[in-house]
Amino acid sequence: MELSLRNAPRHKLGLEEETQITSLVRVKNEGKEGTSTLTERANVNNASRRLMIERVTLRKHLVFNLYEFNAFRKSEQGNAFEFPIPRISVPFVVVPYFAVLEVILFRARRYFVLLDNRIVGLFAVEPRNSLLIISNLAVVPEARRHGIGVYMLDQICRMGAELGLKSLRLRVLKKNRPAQRLYVKYGFVKKSESQFSLKLEKRLRNH
Ligand SMILES: CC(C)(COP(=O)(O)OP(=O)(O)OC[C@H]1O[C@@H](n2cnc3c(N)ncnc32)[C@H](O)[C@@H]1OP(=O)(O)O)[C@@H](O)C(=O)NCCC(=O)NCCS
Repeated sequence: MELSLRNAPRHKLGLEEETQITSLVRVKNEGKEGTSTLTERANVNNASRRLMIERVTLRKHLVFNLYEFNAFRKSEQGNAFEFPIPRISVPFVVVPYFAVLEVILFRARRYFVLLDNRIVGLFAVEPRNSLLIISNLAVVPEARRHGIGVYMLDQICRMGAELGLKSLRLRVLKKNRPAQRLYVKYGFVKKSESQFSLKLEKRLRNH
């Protein structure tokens, strides 16, 4: 699917998209009432049919991050970013910050999550030894709390299993409580911590 960044959301999901997201959650919850995990999973997958992931180039990833930086910066009371960025210094800090991020992600596979043709989330993964390292995972502010974070983790688990890897690994800032809740609820456990961040891992089911 060809994606045009010109048509990317300005993060005001219209009524139509809100309806789609609501129905996604409704069917997902119906799925949860089932007794079998397999049935539940099939229902969730069925409900998620409006969502898809697309592998994107470094350039698209960089442009999206730069374009949407302000929306991400203001969300979660700024707790999703490593450091506070004074407004005046935004051009001087943000461009080098994301450029360096792309260098760090050089070998990673970058993905957008699309709701129809709108970008509602993104993440990057990199296989390293027996681990799948997750980075730059985020959902656009207007689409949060609709299960897209879980959808991305489901997709990442599937990729890790297909690659025959043992575990998923990521780092999350200690101050970023919403993301920690998502990961812990999903089954990640703390492996170690540094001054500002936690290293979390989740073992994949086939191991
Ligand atoms: C963290 C983030 C990815 C979650 O995405 P999401 O699509 O809103 O997550 P989901 O809807 O799948 O949430 C799944 C569960 O995670 C937990 N959770 C997610 N966001 C939460 C929040 N703001 N507060 C409390 N719990 C939260 C809840 O338990 C939630 O389940 P529930 O909605 O049934 O209560 C999103 O808030 C985000 O993009 N934050 C900014 C970027 C970021 O912090 N990325 C992580 C970097 S390590």
